[in-house]
Amino acid sequence: MNKGKKLYEGKAKILYEAPEKGFAIQHFKDDATAYNNLKKSKIEGKGVLNNRISEHILINLNQIGIKTHLVKRLNMREQLVHLAEIIPVEFIVRNIATGSLTKRLGIADGTVLSKPLLEYSYKNDELGDPLVAREHVLAFSWAEEDELNLIKDQCLRINDFMQGMFRGVGIKLVDFKLEFGRINVEGKKEIILADEISPDTCRLWDIVSEKKLDKDRFRKDLGNVMQAYHEVARRLGIMPEETNISEVKFNKPTALKFKKK
Ligand code: TMP
Repeated sequence: MNKGKKLYEGKAKILYEAPEKGFAIQHFKDDATAYNNLKKSKIEGKGVLNNRISEHILINLNQIGIKTHLVKRLNMREQLVHLAEIIPVEFIVRNIATGSLTKRLGIADGTVLSKPLLEYSYKNDELGDPLVAREHVLAFSWAEEDELNLIKDQCLRINDFMQGMFRGVGIKLVDFKLEFGRINVEGKKEIILADEISPDTCRLWDIVSEKKLDKDRFRKDLGNVMQAYHEVARRLGIMPEETNISEVKFNKPTALKFKKK
């Protein structure tokens, strides 16, 4: 599929115009950043794995009725997605205290929360994505009350579903970040999940060893970043056993037919 002009370049992804209005081609890069861009590197093959892992999770979420931006994966690094008007809020769901929550509040790392905690951060790199209250989101009209209610409900359903999915393959879902956006469907705004879900955006610990299988391996210089991402893909059944990522052959992209208007 021919890419149009670059619409946006983020830390780990690039968005290009798709041939049809209202759609975009999302390209997964190998770039990894942490601590608001202070730490940067390239992790060869990360984009390929995140493309596959995110596709797998979003397809499964779609099957339980969560609307997402994914139309289909096009090739090793690209997906065709709905172009959404992004709500400038990161929705963070936590099951176990770690990361910024422990630093901010002095909670012991690894504390299991009695119920999932939903936090809101204002998406603004210059300000370092500060934590905000639901009231800030409403006060500055980043989202409407009914949108926030729906998103909260979806965050908890996604958490339930993903906890089960990962538990089944021996992984604890510690926390994760979601982004939502609006698309126009027959003149009506609809909220959709509009970002990847991958080891870049989740914390995933092995149930038995508590080994980190996510981007914390990069953030904390723990090494074996790709091996950890690959382990997640393998356990989810996306990669065959004993696959060497550099030898992976991906399915040929299927031709996409757009509806004629
Ligand atoms: P935190 O503990 O650093 O606030 O991160 C919470 C979760 O959100 C963790 O799974 C990583 C994810 N996250 C992102 O995906 N992008 C971000 O910019 C941040 C700050 C966190």
